[in-house]
Amino acid sequence: MSHIIAPSLLASDFTKLGETAAMLNASQADWFHLDVMDGVFVPNISFGMPVISALRPLTEKVFDVHLMIEQPERYIRDFKMAGADVLTVHYEASKHLHRTIHAIRDEGMKAGVALNPHTPVTLLYDVLDDIDLVCLMGVNPGFGGQSFIENTYLKVEQLRMMIDESDLDVKIEIDGGVNSENASKLLEYGADVLVAGSFVFRSENPTETIKQLKEIER
Ligand code: DX5
Ligand code: ZN
Repeated sequence: MSHIIAPSLLASDFTKLGETAAMLNASQADWFHLDVMDGVFVPNISFGMPVISALRPLTEKVFDVHLMIEQPERYIRDFKMAGADVLTVHYEASKHLHRTIHAIRDEGMKAGVALNPHTPVTLLYDVLDDIDLVCLMGVNPGFGGQSFIENTYLKVEQLRMMIDESDLDVKIEIDGGVNSENASKLLEYGADVLVAGSFVFRSENPTETIKQLKEIER
């Protein structure tokens, strides 16, 4: 299967969310990546359930919700109600991660776990079988437009080995600093989903930029 492109709306113009949704709908984007920040787990605050529910009727594409919040287990139901299809929580933010993952799946969503740049992929050994996606952060979460941390390549490679070794169906998503320069290498190392915020929305023609990312050969 070809790789998945998930533009992050964080870098888009918030006065035009409806137009952005229409553009993404008509584009080769596969998923909508929605970044929720609480000002505690990360220094920034973005948006939450009301914005996601407002977008939900505008598209049938997958809503990939990335929670950068402390104790995400408090809001699993709310994000299901808002329209999340994939719900990703941070390893660093949930003390009882196994329980959290299962609560996400019990609500009928795909469960993802995100790792900060300093968190080793090997910490996922005991839950890899219980999740659908691992989100490897290519930057420290909290802001769009930061530059990609090169060590992420090694993490993709290592995680790919862990997943293939056990013949699991877990997607590897890369979030932060993704652009056309690092995308093909990330795919080569085994990434399945590329999130791109500023690279898409600060480009002159976002639709074309999405196409360019989608058409990269693995
Ligand atoms: C960062 C967010 C990312 C962000 C990516 O904390 O999780 O999804 O929007 O933005 P870029 O692609 O600009 O690094
Ligand atoms: Zn994100």
